[in-house]
Amino acid sequence: MALIEWDDDRYSTNIDRFDEQHQNLFELLNDLHQAMEEGHAEEELGDILRELERYTEYHFGDEEEFMEDCGYSQDCADCFHNHQEMHENFASKVTELRQKHEDGEYITMEVLEFARDWLDSHIAGGDQDQNYSEYFQNEVDSYEFD
Ligand SMILES: [Fe+2]
Ligand SMILES: [Fe+2]
Repeated sequence: MALIEWDDDRYSTNIDRFDEQHQNLFELLNDLHQAMEEGHAEEELGDILRELERYTEYHFGDEEEFMEDCGYSQDCADCFHNHQEMHENFASKVTELRQKHEDGEYITMEVLEFARDWLDSHIAGGDQDQNYSEYFQNEVDSYEFD
């Protein structure tokens, strides 16, 4: 069973590229979960963890750039800084996880559940990802992004 499943009503930001990125993050988390459940080789877990680390950083960077480009970071500097701080904390947790695994430590299901809950509330909690998307929908309808 999947650890986390996409649900448009719950998770959509109405911005295609971020919905796709969030779906990719869910997929990586599910891959990791499945590999652990099926007792796959440590090497495979390491590959998924490295990809999760890389993709998390890519996604957070893209979101932060977007928040700056659309004016959100100027209109609500506190929201932006708070959001950035949450990204930094989560990214360092993922790095820590990847490092622990490389040092031979066992990754527990609790850690995966923590990552799932974090993503769930970060995207759907209303005060983070759906906050910038709401701002974008309301304020800058004509904004063009690449
Ligand atoms: Fe996000
Ligand atoms: Fe975010």
